[in-house]
Amino acid sequence: MTERALEEAAAHAVQFLQGLPDRHVGPRAGAGELRARLGGPLPEGPTDPAEVVAQLAKLADDGLVASAGPRFFGFVVGGGLPAAVAADWLAATWDQNAGLFVLSPAAATVEDIAAGWLVELLRLPAATTTGFVTGGTMANFTGLAAARHHVLAAAGWDVERDGLSGAPPVEIVVGAERHVTIDVALRYLGFGSGRLRVVPADGQGRMRADLLAETLAGLNGPAIVCAQAGNVNTGAVDPLAAICDAAAERGAWVHVDGAIGLLAAASPSHRHLLAGVERADSLAADAHKWLNVPYDSGLAFVTRPDAHLAAFSKAAAYFIPGQAGERDPDAFTPEASRRARGLPVWAALRSLGRSGVAELVDRCCRHARRFADALGQADGVEVLNEVVLNQTLVRFLDPGGDHDGRTREVVRRVQEDGTLWLGGTIWHGMAAMRISVSGWRTSDQDVDRSVEAILAAAASVR
Ligand SMILES: Cc1ncc(COP(=O)(O)O)c(C=O)c1O
Repeated sequence: MTERALEEAAAHAVQFLQGLPDRHVGPRAGAGELRARLGGPLPEGPTDPAEVVAQLAKLADDGLVASAGPRFFGFVVGGGLPAAVAADWLAATWDQNAGLFVLSPAAATVEDIAAGWLVELLRLPAATTTGFVTGGTMANFTGLAAARHHVLAAAGWDVERDGLSGAPPVEIVVGAERHVTIDVALRYLGFGSGRLRVVPADGQGRMRADLLAETLAGLNGPAIVCAQAGNVNTGAVDPLAAICDAAAERGAWVHVDGAIGLLAAASPSHRHLLAGVERADSLAADAHKWLNVPYDSGLAFVTRPDAHLAAFSKAAAYFIPGQAGERDPDAFTPEASRRARGLPVWAALRSLGRSGVAELVDRCCRHARRFADALGQADGVEVLNEVVLNQTLVRFLDPGGDHDGRTREVVRRVQEDGTLWLGGTIWHGMAAMRISVSGWRTSDQDVDRSVEAILAAAASVR
């Protein structure tokens, strides 16, 4: 039975992938239609598994977004690399619990190997420990939980035992342009967003390191600094070396949210943007963004293993702890039981190799530049950012002065047209179109075709 269901799924998956480059990129069905088709009363009895898969594939199809395809430039979304997607199928089929070594020596060891490869690729300190989590949010949470442990332990407080009530206050310093999930992760850790010390950013969204030094000089007690590698709008990377200098003066922990940009450290031609990154205490990255591992896949790195383990180690009488050389993955993540998320990461790294990762980074950055060059030459289009990474931000100028309205309307028409998909944002008080090139399938021709569609949409707005 399982075999027939898997064959059915494989046939649909192959058909989907073959049609991916030509699909209308955005969804064509809304919640009402999907609910009508897929919903109804809970079936009273069983249905054949292969039939269930066939129904799902058929009925869900036009509610799917071709975000894995070559012309999806919304949010920051990668497509699944072939080896990673197939390895993910195996992860589901094998159904391994990657919590403890004893539950899956293969999942635990493959994850450990992938962790080592990542640390080497990103040139982080060799002792760095890695947690395989669901995404950037939980990677930020994981790094910041290690930070919370470390800075409070240094102040003589055991937060794992005694919690935060009565603990020395922790000063949390963030950049004005941090991602919202930094606030979310801090909130989960008991640090309210109203208490954050916010350091202003420069015109590209980078934290001002000079102002960070001033802020830190005025603070006492344990401190955590949250920096960023890859602004969600501009792709700009905070001045990490200067931030680490300022934090070191004060004994503060540095966490880097690299959900968007950390992978650029693997590219010899882009690594300079992240100079100093190896001095951070913890870092977050998203494998489901630029590494093109299927959802969900985030990575938390901690260069102080003791703090990482102190925050997440778990023990119970019925657990069987791994012996020397045996990784218990749950020691590095908030979860205990979980899927073997390391398998597709291993497959992505093994299939690309060091040169393949660097080439992927460079290619996406080149595409972002190609967008900026082509759109920037067009009348009435303004490129708003310095294109340093894989993000391009543009705005459409309206002869009547309603630039925001025109920009939003161009975004709407592009989405409706379906050649590509992207979204909008507000940048420095202005409506803007965000173009994020994170998928491995995008070619020069896809960029050119997309530019044409964007300009056609702009020309259609009167
Ligand atoms: C800079 C940054 N940090 C964190 C996140 C959160 O990542 P996730 O959505 O994988 O939880 C994002 C998501 O876009 C991001 O851009």
